[in-house]
Amino acid sequence: MQTIYTIQALTAIIKLWKQSGYSIAFVPTMGNLHQGHFKLVEEAKKQADKIVVSIFINPTQFCVGEDFNNYPRTEQQDISSLLALEVDALFLPSSTEMYHSDAKTLVSVAELASLHCGATRSGHFDGVATVVCKLLNLVQPDVALFGEKDFQQLLIIKTIVRDLNMPVRIESLTTVRETDGLAMSSRNSYLTVDERLIAPFLYQTLCQGRDKVITGQLTFSQIEQQQQQTLQAVGFKVDYFSICNAHTLLSAQYNDNNIVILAAVKLGKARLIDNIHFQINTLKVDSLS
Ligand code: PAJ
Repeated sequence: MQTIYTIQALTAIIKLWKQSGYSIAFVPTMGNLHQGHFKLVEEAKKQADKIVVSIFINPTQFCVGEDFNNYPRTEQQDISSLLALEVDALFLPSSTEMYHSDAKTLVSVAELASLHCGATRSGHFDGVATVVCKLLNLVQPDVALFGEKDFQQLLIIKTIVRDLNMPVRIESLTTVRETDGLAMSSRNSYLTVDERLIAPFLYQTLCQGRDKVITGQLTFSQIEQQQQQTLQAVGFKVDYFSICNAHTLLSAQYNDNNIVILAAVKLGKARLIDNIHFQINTLKVDSLS
């Protein structure tokens, strides 16, 4: 595996691979790699000749007062894991390498970036969108892989690639979970032993919410209220728990059948996000008459 720190060196190797006719798959990350990231890399290996992983803790996607300084940095451990996975290149740029001191351009999918996580994390998704565009421009992959764990992020990236005609295929993978259902995340390391016991309840509450939606006996807003109360009762501070149309991320309507329930909660120092994506049968009683 080649560990690459500069854009110049990255560009050189990408050019060489392109000239040799190799296809390229790309997995962007912020490091502190876990099974969720490894699944993306394993899938990437099935899809292209050369695999590039980036580790860049992108400062522009952290808001004021967030955990940029404390974000877990485990570079040596990550390098060993990627070596074992036989990744071809690891791109590890510094902030000054990635951002021109006079950078002025922001990529923004305004309509999607202001919802849910974007409502409380102002500017977060513009930071994500901009860095992902920059990374895709640098790596020029045939395919880039992202996790459905970050459902809103994934939708924003797919929208940018579509709207800007970027020549890359975006693939997504389902969320990798601990055996008790907790979605794997670098931020799980912020949880205390006691909080770690409560944390899986987030996914259980999402599953319960999905079952209530499918049963169809309550309105979506009743289900949202009940599930928020359930989360609060076990000690989460609920940021949002929203039953949404999976295409628009707006509140789901009666006739929608492609549904995602998005949730974000705080538990001690950790902010956890998770979601559940499912279809419901639109063959409602009144549509039969
Ligand atoms: P990071 O949180 O490191 O995640 C990198 C990729 O791994 C993202 O596509 C994310 O959705 C995926 N991922 C994280 N946890 C996962 C899990 N439990 N199961 C499956 N996939 C999972 O997301 C980012 O970094 C950044 O915002 C980034 C896209 C790199 C831009 O800076």
